[in-house]
Amino acid sequence: MKLAVIGLGLIGGSLARALRVGRSAGLVVTGFDTDPKQVRLAVDLGVVDQAPGSAQAAVQGADIIVIAVPVLHTADALKSILPAIGTTAVVTDVGSTKQSVLEDVAKVCGGKLPPWFVAGHPIAGTEKSGVANAFAELFHGHRVILTPHAGQSADARDRVRKMWEAAGARVVEMDAARHDQIFAATSHLPHVLAYGFVDMLTRLPEQDQIFRNAGGGFRDFTRIASSSPQMWHDIVRANRATVSELLARQISDLSEMLAMIRSERWDELKARFERARAARERHLSQIE
Ligand SMILES: NC(=O)c1ccc[n+]([C@@H]2O[C@H](COP(=O)([O-])OP(=O)(O)OC[C@H]3O[C@@H](n4cnc5c(N)ncnc54)[C@H](O)[C@@H]3O)[C@@H](O)[C@H]2O)c1
Repeated sequence: MKLAVIGLGLIGGSLARALRVGRSAGLVVTGFDTDPKQVRLAVDLGVVDQAPGSAQAAVQGADIIVIAVPVLHTADALKSILPAIGTTAVVTDVGSTKQSVLEDVAKVCGGKLPPWFVAGHPIAGTEKSGVANAFAELFHGHRVILTPHAGQSADARDRVRKMWEAAGARVVEMDAARHDQIFAATSHLPHVLAYGFVDMLTRLPEQDQIFRNAGGGFRDFTRIASSSPQMWHDIVRANRATVSELLARQISDLSEMLAMIRSERWDELKARFERARAARERHLSQIE
């Protein structure tokens, strides 16, 4: 079995590590990244067996090819390997938006989604990027969402499912549009809000004092503002219609809360806090 990883960052590197830990006899992992530093690190850290120096060489003879690059780079990554994808190979991705990935893959493949492509998204990650932060247990007990398309090979989907299960994840299937709607709410919008909040603080005259005195609540609330700006630029841009709709709704809700504070409608404000706390408590056990 030969696995090729295109994009040796946190997710690609963690998947390679996870499969190497539970290594089935004869598993060979090759990899490529446009950043030579990540390639060097991946080899030095033993994340990949080989990094042959070009994307095409890395996927030569691969059974499964995993594209693990920022979502708007998916088309370039696929173009760079297309002529070298073997006739029995399966190609999958890990991108956080699914409609844009499916559209880009179809464009690269002459307007039609190929049977050998399986769109996927692991619901696991951290605010860190790069192969140096990759670890084998990242996907343990977490979901991976596959968003199947018409004409997809059942065998290709099954191979990708087995790969993720071998990495310790649970695989579920969902429609791509529904996926993008849900993750705009639970993931994309919170990242925009966290970046926006921290950025607003950096422009206050007393910002040094503010950051120096920040406590656990600040750390919890802003952790995701340390995520890769490139990755999140790509995600928000790829899912802009849904993210902007939710952001507009959030701005309107915040304006309402501002009005409550300014006009001292404290019962209404407290009722909002209570409603939010109750919802979070109710759903907490389901949050991975
Ligand atoms: N980090 C998370 O929490 C998380 C969780 C789930 C899914 N994802 C998705 O996984 C993907 C990768 O994220 P990550 O956190 O591993 O990012 P990362 O920044 O750690 O790694 C991405 C790597 O892709 C490389 N790259 C960019 N374009 C390339 C190309 N054309 N060919 C080869 N390599 C290329 C970059 O040099 C970089 O090393 C993204 O699509 C992201 O949406 C991330």
